[in-house]
Amino acid sequence: MAKKSDQIAGYNYGHAATARSPVSLEELRQLEETVGWSEEDSEVLQRHGAIFRSHAGAMVDSWRAVIGAQPHLAKWFFDPSGKPDEQYKARVKKRFVQWVLDACFRPHDQAWLDYQEEIGLRHTPENKNKTDGAHTPPVVPLRFLLGFVTTVTIGTRKFLTNAGVAGDDLQKLEAAWAKTVHSTSPSGPDPMRKKDFGEPAGILWSRDSHNECFPCGITGCSVLPFRLRLVLFRRITPLRDARFPIRDPFYRRFHLPISSS
Ligand code: HEM
Repeated sequence: MAKKSDQIAGYNYGHAATARSPVSLEELRQLEETVGWSEEDSEVLQRHGAIFRSHAGAMVDSWRAVIGAQPHLAKWFFDPSGKPDEQYKARVKKRFVQWVLDACFRPHDQAWLDYQEEIGLRHTPENKNKTDGAHTPPVVPLRFLLGFVTTVTIGTRKFLTNAGVAGDDLQKLEAAWAKTVHSTSPSGPDPMRKKDFGEPAGILWSRDSHNECFPCGITGCSVLPFRLRLVLFRRITPLRDARFPIRDPFYRRFHLPISSS
């Protein structure tokens, strides 16, 4: 697998130049526990690995058809003239296909964690377009990435049933696939959360749709201007840390330099 995947342009799994995840291995284990991931899931995926090896390309095509059918998703692949950038799409597809195999077969170790960060960043202004020298819009909003998880999980069933998996086996395989997807970026580890327009997703979402300000948990404080909320978020960090000892990785990275000054 390593040799072939080395030939995919822009695929930097395990390379020194790949981003370093702010999520620790311990935090990854906690996430795995949260999604219910176990050794058995890994074995189930390996046992049915041939299905993913044979159909990864078709799976990606089917997910992409969902994107292509929705203008608000398709536009993230458009060049400045407003047309799909076919070269970009083709290059990204190869890496997405590789992601399917990685999600099935790679161990959940530091290299895994780091590449999740890298993938996350490639959906944000920090790294989007850079790998392929493209000129498409600079960020895919986090809400669409999270929303797309259903397509990538439930939308995979037909490939499993077409391959003859049924009954209890199907249930286990679907569950294992869903769990590994939830342990990947952008659906699992945190790289994107603070990167979407450079702000924590909670704030971003509250600006768009919710009335709850994630950092302080005060419902209705969306009346505060966005920037002011951000400043307040920074200021209350030490307080919140004292009250809630569990600290999100993005939270720590985003705030410590400020609150310790
Ligand atoms: C479950 C949700 C998703 C997953 C797991 C996912 C996964 C991936 C992966 C693995 C790549 C290639 C990373 C690499 O370069 O190695 C990628 C790239 C990309 N994805 Fe997603 N994606 C998701 C949702 C979406 C959605 C909803 C869109 C919006 C249409 C989108 C747009 C893109 C774009 C534009 C790129 C290319 C980024 C670049 O410039 O390098 N993705 N995605």
